[in-house]
Order: sequence, then structure tokens, then C-alpha cells
Amino acid sequence: MVLDRLFVKRILILLQFIPLSVKCFTPGPHITALVDNRLYFMSSSQAKELSFLDLHQSFDNSNVPWKDLTINVNLKRYNFATTAVFNENIFFIGGKVTQPDDPFIYVLNTLNENWSFPVISGGKPPQKSEGFQAVIFNGKIYLFVGSEIDGFGRMNVLNLQTLIWEPRVDINLPHARYGYTATLIPEGLILYIGGIFQNGTYANMNEIPIYDTLKDNWSYAIMNEVGGIIPEGRQMHSASLSSFNTIIIYGGYNNEVLSKILVILDISNPIYSWILPITGALKSKWGHNSIYFNSQMIVTFGFNEEVNLILTILSNPSKTSFDLVSHFSSFTPLSMPPGLPTSSPTSTTPKYAPTYAAASSGVVISEAIAFFWDRKSIINWLRNKSDKDRK
Ligand SMILES: *[C@@H]1O[C@H](CO)[C@@H](O)[C@H](O)[C@H]1NC(C)=O
Ligand SMILES: *[C@@H]1O[C@H](CO)[C@@H](O)[C@H](O)[C@H]1NC(C)=O
Ligand SMILES: *[C@@H]1O[C@H](CO)[C@@H](O)[C@H](O)[C@H]1NC(C)=O
Ligand SMILES: *[C@@H]1O[C@H](CO)[C@@H](O)[C@H](O)[C@H]1NC(C)=O
Repeated sequence: MVLDRLFVKRILILLQFIPLSVKCFTPGPHITALVDNRLYFMSSSQAKELSFLDLHQSFDNSNVPWKDLTINVNLKRYNFATTAVFNENIFFIGGKVTQPDDPFIYVLNTLNENWSFPVISGGKPPQKSEGFQAVIFNGKIYLFVGSEIDGFGRMNVLNLQTLIWEPRVDINLPHARYGYTATLIPEGLILYIGGIFQNGTYANMNEIPIYDTLKDNWSYAIMNEVGGIIPEGRQMHSASLSSFNTIIIYGGYNNEVLSKILVILDISNPIYSWILPITGALKSKWGHNSIYFNSQMIVTFGFNEEVNLILTILSNPSKTSFDLVSHFSSFTPLSMPPGLPTSSPTSTTPKYAPTYAAASSGVVISEAIAFFWDRKSIINWLRNKSDKDRK
């Protein structure tokens, strides 16, 4: 997986033609992180925006109370990065390295708005720096990353207390994939959905590797083959764990137009099954982020036929129903299903107190663009789009 400089430059030039529909916000890829009900956004390199949305308050889609942070963000990396949140800290992980001494991880302390980078003292860091999604559980960050040795991925585990990359057993490894989603479900299991293999083919959405963080081993989800919905393969989609014990997959990029834009993986039974809900006028998107909050899904940024669409709110009042709504409610609805968490399981963790080096002037954060292998069609897509937008 190589992203050459020229390609990156062309993407950035093309991005400039996308009109700025909302004052101060660049559409397109962003990295997000939810810290204490504040949803943080880091934008692409053009604008160097860092902002947040306070989900303690309700709002209308027509009047989104974005708040800008004035922290200096000096972006140097130009593609996919991922985040993990630990206490008040946002870990910005990976992204294309542009200079040999780029740290792999940066940390923003959201309380004192201070940037730093962890000094990792032991073990081997991942061999690649882009195209994966981080999961945090029990004070450890899990990154499933392709290996340069073979076609298989490796689980890279950073222990935040010791700041060491922990060794893993590495048996039954799945094939390396990129542009996938990683979803933590209760019992410390991580589900890897979608993405694209190193040979450029899309992963089958019915083949879902599951990593058990407690047992350090891999298995595959047992799928209900009856009924036969298999969503099209995709990359740069989003996956959100709902309060109905489902994983909501939205959008994604595929060479073909997706027909199943929003699909639900029902994980409430040991045998998982796909459900295709009726979603009305919902349009597809890729390179976006989705978070699930109080039976609502907030979808932000990314690419869409209408790049103006920066924030979409979907309400999810029952297991299979979704409505496009214009209002986000910060209140817990009365009809919550019993006994289920309102968000992904959080860690019951050791206090995070590692040695940090202060970040030097500015910070290197990548733009969250992950263009894997499909470069040509994505460049065409962007070019078509910018032509259209200029007309
Ligand atoms: C691409 O790679 C995947 C995973 O290694 C493999 O399952 C698939 O058969 C390969 N497809 C082609 C066309 O080579
Ligand atoms: C995972 O590890 C546990 C405990 O060592 C073992 O019981 C189980 O069979 C393993 N599962 C797989 C799929 O290897
Ligand atoms: C920011 O973090 C660094 C490294 O931990 C520390 O030395 C510095 O005092 C902190 N600055 C502020 C304003 O908290
Ligand atoms: C871009 O436009 C050309 C000509 O209209 C079309 O053939 C091509 O499929 C489009 N590409 C994408 C990725 O939309």
C-alpha cells in the first residue's frame, strides 16, 4: 500500500474546488473522537481546524453549535489516521509518515489543551502507519495492521500503563485488510468488518474476523446464511454499536454504487445476521465518521454526492428503524431497551500516567483520507465532482 506524494498533492488540489458550504468548515475527511460527550473533529490539512460539538446540549441540524478550538495544529501527514480516547486524552494514531522522525502517536489532553507524544520504550511498533482503526479496551490500544512479511495482519497492542508494545501469540491470523472498521463489543471482542485486501479485492462482509482481547486469539463470526442478505464489500464506511445490540454499517466506498447503504449486523444472538432496514432518502457517504448516542446516530463529514452535507442525524427508535431527523436530542429517550450500554463499553482501567515528551511546535496530524489501491477511480470521482461543482 503506497500513497505517493503526487497522488496526495492531486487530492489536495482537488479538495480546494469543493465549495465551503458552512463557514469555517472544510467538508471531506475528518478524524473524530468522543470525550466526555464532546465530539472532537480534526480536519484536513487545508484549514487546520480543530473543533468540537458538545453533545450535552440538543441542537437542530440547521444550527449546529460547533465550537472552534484555537490550538495550533500543524498538519504534515496527508491520509488516514485513527483515534483512541483514554480518560481526557485523545490519541491520534498513524497516518502517512512524511519525515523519518514523525512520532506514531500524538496525544491531545482535552482538559489543558496540551499536545504531547508518548515515549514508547519497548516492543515493536506496527509495520505500517495507515489504513487501520484503533480500539481501546482495558487501558490497551489494539491496532490490526498488515505485516510486510506475509499477507496476514498482526494485532499490535500498546499498553498505556507500561507504554510498551505487547507481544501477541499470532495464531489463526486473518488476512491483512485496510479501510475496515473495528468495533468493540461487550466481553472484549473486536469485530473487523469490511475493508480491502492487499490484492485490491473487497473483503466479504459475511467473513468477519473477531479478536478476543482477553484470550488473545482469533475466530470468525458465525453468520446466519438463511435469508441471504450479504452487503456489498466496502471501505471507509462507518460502524456504530447501537443500544439494540446491533452494529450499524453506513456507507463506504466501492467501485460500484452501493445498493445497501445502511445495513445492520444483529449481534444479539450467537449467530449473527444482516438486516436491511428501510431508510428512505438516505444517501451514501464515505470517509465519514458515525457515532451512536442516545438512540441517535450522528454522521459527520466525509464525501457525498452533496459535499454540503456535513452533519446528518439518524434516529434509531427501534432495532430496525431509522429516520432522518433534523434535531439531535441530548436526553435519553424513554424507550431505551433494557440492560444495554448507551455507548461502546469503556475501560475500567489503570490510571494513565506514562512519561510524555512535550510535542515540539505544532503537531503532525494526518488528514483522514484513506485511499487504498483504488486511487484511480477516487481521483476520477473527485475530478468529476470538482468539475460538477464549478459548473
Ligand atoms: C485477494 O486476497 C484475499 C485475501 O488474501 C483472498 O482471499 C482472495 O482470494 C484474493 N483474491 C484474488 C482475486 O486474488
Ligand atoms: C481461544 O483461547 C481459549 C482459551 O485459551 C480457548 O479455550 C479457545 O478454544 C480459543 N479459541 C480459538 C478459536 O482458538
Ligand atoms: C504539557 O505537557 C508537557 C509534557 O507532559 C508538560 O511538560 C507541560 O508542562 C504541559 N503544559 C501544560 C500547559 O500543561
Ligand atoms: C467520471 O465521469 C466520466 C465521464 O462522465 C465517467 O465515465 C466516469 O465513470 C466517472 N467516474 C466516476 C468515478 O464517477
